[in-house]
Amino acid sequence: MWQGLFLVLVVLVLMFSFVILFGAPYLPTLNRQVASAIKLSGLKPGDTILELGCGDGRVLIEAAKAGLHAVGYELNPILFIIAYLRTRRYAGHIKVIYGNYWHKTWPPANAVYVFLIPRLMQKLERKIRQEKLVKPRVVSFAFQFPGIAPKATLNGVFLYDL
Ligand SMILES: C[S@@+](CC[C@H](N)C(=O)[O-])C[C@H]1O[C@@H](n2cnc3c(N)ncnc32)[C@H](O)[C@@H]1O
Repeated sequence: MWQGLFLVLVVLVLMFSFVILFGAPYLPTLNRQVASAIKLSGLKPGDTILELGCGDGRVLIEAAKAGLHAVGYELNPILFIIAYLRTRRYAGHIKVIYGNYWHKTWPPANAVYVFLIPRLMQKLERKIRQEKLVKPRVVSFAFQFPGIAPKATLNGVFLYDL
């Protein structure tokens, strides 16, 4: 019994910690900032937002409620399953994809939403330029691109036109 619980605990810790090798650890965007991000994105119903590391799917759900199409990548298998299950009822509007967003070719999107860590912002800028998104609009919670002025800011969320 205790061995089983210990094993589950070890698996949980591993799932949440290995992701740190590839990106930001799990920390959800707060409700107020989710609303700010969607507002700041300026997207209209029918537009698509791409979330890099979608966690439990909360941003995708709010985006879908605003009439947007939302695509999220998630590398933590547990969070992927949670996001997948939570967003099932918005299946026509939300797609959750398992995998490492650095190694994927991104689908066309009108905006990209991220909650990363400072050391990854420059790498993200390079990846976005490489993906050749049309007029990429980037919404970032908490962290800024070094050397680039945000176009707008709201409640700790930054908007960029790259
Ligand atoms: C700071 S959390 C943000 C979660 C969610 N975007 C939110 O704002 O509520 C970062 C998320 O990205 C995921 N992640 C980190 N690196 C990743 C990668 N290379 N590919 C896909 N997901 C990644 C983590 O598992 C975690 O869920």
